[in-house]
Amino acid sequence: MTKKLLLLPGDGIGPEVLGQVERLLAHLTSYQGLDLTIETALFGGASIDACGQPITDAVVAQAKASDAVLLGAVGGPQWVDVARDLRPEMGLLRLRKEMDVFANLRPAICFESLADASGLKRHLVAGLDIVFVRELTGGVYFGTPRGIETLSDGSRRGFDNQVYTSHEIRRVAKVAFELARQRANKVTSLEKSNVMESGLLWRQEVTALHAEHYSDVTLEHMYADNAAMQMVRAPQQFDVLLTDNLFGDVLSDLAAACTGSIGLLPSAALGNPGTPGLYEPIHGSAPDIAGTGKANPIAAILSLEMALRWSLDELKLADRVFEAVKSALNQGARTADLGGDLSTEAMGDAILHALG
Ligand code: IPM
Ligand code: MG
Repeated sequence: MTKKLLLLPGDGIGPEVLGQVERLLAHLTSYQGLDLTIETALFGGASIDACGQPITDAVVAQAKASDAVLLGAVGGPQWVDVARDLRPEMGLLRLRKEMDVFANLRPAICFESLADASGLKRHLVAGLDIVFVRELTGGVYFGTPRGIETLSDGSRRGFDNQVYTSHEIRRVAKVAFELARQRANKVTSLEKSNVMESGLLWRQEVTALHAEHYSDVTLEHMYADNAAMQMVRAPQQFDVLLTDNLFGDVLSDLAAACTGSIGLLPSAALGNPGTPGLYEPIHGSAPDIAGTGKANPIAAILSLEMALRWSLDELKLADRVFEAVKSALNQGARTADLGGDLSTEAMGDAILHALG
């Protein structure tokens, strides 16, 4: 059956980078046998402007009825003053929650040809290939009660709630263990079980699941603060990093910076087997360069690659797209973030060319 892909270009550089994804899709359809129905919908600030909310019920329904959803970027200075629960970011959290995509795969790969773009020394990052599995629909970003209250003495108190159930921990840990088996077979699970109860539960549940079903996988536990240090000291020691929502948000940005440019890295958010995945470049909307044609489309193109691999049953095409990106980079194609002067479109050309 023909699969369905929903594109949500969103804000800032989102529409520009997804423009290159659309060119690539047209090429794969015309010359490489891809059979896909493609729809496009409003999301984020663009949806606030048109519909008064960052995502409409209709678009949520459309996303759930697709096989994969590919997002550009969300947010920008135009929308910082809108009501808090209507902000573009809230549209993203709602979409993740409603699609129930609880496992966020964030690879941090350092292409050999780009090892000098990293702030870390070449020998620390060349060939780096690690992946975060970040819990995405629970933890402190969703826990209740939360709020800001005024106390009797007039001072204020802000609070959020870090909550995890054993079910939430086990289902995301399972994804990490399964993924490790296809890679270097090692999972490093991060938490702060020394000071947090939810962290202790995290460690206990991951340990138990490992003993029950995944004892063939090497499991290591590490405090999240130590992991931050290890990430800049010796990132090659990692294979799969399993984290909660908050630590994964912070540490995956750190890992991205270690690879050289955040303009390169894709992500996949997955739910239960058979449900649609949500794919997004991990860079933001980059309002400072939006509209200038400078954005690097590679993170978006590799997000399509992940969608082909994880949701659209097109493993061969996914491999080809990955190789085309690698080969364009090997041949010296560089956008501004990589120290070059190629435009978004010219980088798209280089990748299309490499695809043959
Ligand atoms: C990310 C982003 C989002 C998050 C924001 C935009 C809601 O930082 O995907 O890492 O916090 O998860
Ligand atoms: Mg983040």
